[in-house]
Amino acid sequence: MSLNVLVVGGAGYIGSHMVKNLCGRGVHVTTFDNLCSGHRDAVLGGAFIEGDLADRAALERVFAARKYDAVMHFASFIEVGESVRLPAKYYRNNVSNTLNLLECMQAAGVEQFIFSSTAAIFGTPQRVPIDETHPTNPINPYGRSKLMVEQMLADLARAHGLRSVCLRYFNAAGADPDGQLGERHNPETHLIPLVLQAASGRRPFMSVFGTDYDTPDGTCIRDYVHVADLCEAHWLALQSLAQGEGSQAYNLGNGDGFSVFEVIDTVRKVTGREFTVKHETRRAGDPSRLVADSSAARQKLGWVPKYPSLQTIVEHAWAFEQRR
Ligand code: UFG
Repeated sequence: MSLNVLVVGGAGYIGSHMVKNLCGRGVHVTTFDNLCSGHRDAVLGGAFIEGDLADRAALERVFAARKYDAVMHFASFIEVGESVRLPAKYYRNNVSNTLNLLECMQAAGVEQFIFSSTAAIFGTPQRVPIDETHPTNPINPYGRSKLMVEQMLADLARAHGLRSVCLRYFNAAGADPDGQLGERHNPETHLIPLVLQAASGRRPFMSVFGTDYDTPDGTCIRDYVHVADLCEAHWLALQSLAQGEGSQAYNLGNGDGFSVFEVIDTVRKVTGREFTVKHETRRAGDPSRLVADSSAARQKLGWVPKYPSLQTIVEHAWAFEQRR
């Protein structure tokens, strides 16, 4: 009998790659998405239900219609700057609506949950690379909203036996290696798609936010991890829960940091295009360096990223950008 998985936010960037991954394995997938930022045409397989996590009755109908083995939850607001301006929007959607989902799961007896968490729960790092023992101290409402869900999950595990895996992505990047899916945020705020849009001529220039950081070239360093590798980690997490393991949390990155200038150089090399780069002041809330120590995911889940090179990540994202 095939596995039944509910993918909440399956029309979004990472969720849509996950739906494709699961369908390719013969999993019976149902996507639940309100399409506020996702795209219906990015859901390449399985069933699709348009609905909102704020709508308890809609969620109850979803769980009444089918017995799910597990839920993967990708639906959240992700813009740090917006979360500072509109914190209630983030707490309402990322926390309160997630609680709706968890309560409906509990009522339906669904006990396995995989949660999209973030490096933002660590705040300004005390040390890098960041492993799971690093203290959590988020510095914006977005990071706090994700940490609150992690804390709720720990309480629900103790009280009701809900088993979860929290996957803290560092910088999700790249696109489907087959070229069918990619990053389509609106507005786009992430570095790699923005640089590629400058390279393709869809943007007149790109801006570098801060060249005076305490890093070798003065720009921020991030750990870019391929979206297909993140999906593989979700699959391994699902296997681990299916085998009866208890709740876990993992930091997911490649363990290599690249500066904004290094990303721009890689884009120039991959695309062969020239474009205008403007040096701007720092963006509020950007830590200078975020790099993951993912030893735990490697050892406990057996996670081995297939596309660890920044050049490959940029090549896949560029192939998608050119198709747009
Ligand atoms: N940057 C630029 N110019 C741009 C866009 C970004 O210089 O036009 C810089 C940023 O200042 C940062 C780096 O590129 O130094 C990466 O920025 P992104 O916005 O691509 O990614 P973040 O590191 O800010 O964000 C990622 C996730 C968030 C998560 C955060 C955790 O996308 O969801 O990591 O810190 F909250």
